[in-house]
Amino acid sequence: MTKVGIIGATGYTGLELLRCLLYHPKAEVTIATSRQFAGQKVAVLFPFLKGYQDLTLSPLDLETVAKQTEVVFTALPHQVAMEVVSFFIKKGKKVIDLSADFRLKDPGVYETWYGPHKAKELLPLAIYGLPEIYSEKIRGATLVANPGCYPTTAILALAPFLSKGVIELNNIIIDAKSGVSGAGRGAKLATHFCEVNENMEAYKVCNHRHTPEIEQELTQLAGKVVKVTFVPHLIPISRGMFTTVYARLIKTITSETAHRLMTDYYKNKPFIEVLPPENVPKTIYVRGTNICQLGVKVDKKSSTIVIMAAIDNLAKGASTQAIQNMNLMLHFPEEMGLKTLPVFP
Ligand SMILES: NC(=O)c1ccc[n+]([C@@H]2O[C@H](COP(=O)([O-])OP(=O)(O)OC[C@H]3O[C@@H](n4cnc5c(N)ncnc54)[C@H](OP(=O)(O)O)[C@@H]3O)[C@@H](O)[C@H]2O)c1
Repeated sequence: MTKVGIIGATGYTGLELLRCLLYHPKAEVTIATSRQFAGQKVAVLFPFLKGYQDLTLSPLDLETVAKQTEVVFTALPHQVAMEVVSFFIKKGKKVIDLSADFRLKDPGVYETWYGPHKAKELLPLAIYGLPEIYSEKIRGATLVANPGCYPTTAILALAPFLSKGVIELNNIIIDAKSGVSGAGRGAKLATHFCEVNENMEAYKVCNHRHTPEIEQELTQLAGKVVKVTFVPHLIPISRGMFTTVYARLIKTITSETAHRLMTDYYKNKPFIEVLPPENVPKTIYVRGTNICQLGVKVDKKSSTIVIMAAIDNLAKGASTQAIQNMNLMLHFPEEMGLKTLPVFP
């Protein structure tokens, strides 16, 4: 069994890692940390995790974690993760970081959107952890920067069309909706029940921190600069993310051709489900799974391609994608421990 540590285990993504790693046949969580709940038993604090009868939450003592692990997941806020990650990399551990701290290759861009970077020397080492595109690099990685949830949907939706050069690069609109768990487990006024229930709103319009990450990866795929209009929304569901992308076609193609481009691009990618043109993705079809459902339709009269993507923000958007990355880094089968079905409805 590979010994795994989770730093920030009592947040939403940390808890999802704990839940999903219970299904993994070759990984064992040997240590899980929390400042607020250190000393408390996981199975008592979170009765749905009763598989962890012997696991007690530890304080964040990095030396202790290093002694007990081979692989570390850091599920911490950005800016906090960077120094913790740096410590474990120096100790020779494999690290999968769920924060944004190692996703942006240009430290200047990171500092514009997030603040000072204290481990810039590690940026060249970090591999962007989107397995459907970078699986070979991830297999050889010691540090994986697990993608953000919005970027996961936007990049997976657009990659087949950017690689074939069928869309305009300066006219892409990404309209995305997230469940409330995307904001983390800490109590905040904006995610208070009365503020989100029966409500829908856009936020950080054209100014969300995931914009540079999306543009970095789309530019890489297109081989030319890509700029996007990205508008995130908060919707009253606990988990789930639905993204609709609108792009102008350079040449006319049918919905059937667009669908074929997508199915060809994602051939043999076990966690991508490209739906037939008459169907649309739904968040309830992917909840609690590592699946990204994709749908595509061409609006002939306006030469616009409409691409839809649904994921679970805590799963493919964070923790199960992180386990998929761990599987690749450890040369386990990519699907190991991740073949779960959604709870429906
Ligand atoms: N939520 C999502 O859908 C999602 C999706 C993709 C990526 N992410 C990213 O994943 C990371 C974790 O997100 P989350 O939603 O799980 O956050 P969260 O629910 O707020 O949990 C954060 C965790 O980190 C610990 N923590 C907070 N501040 C800390 C500090 N200064 N030092 C040490 N530990 C600290 C917290 O526990 P204690 O306070 O008890 O220590 C908690 O366990 C973030 O970087 C987030 O951007 C989240």
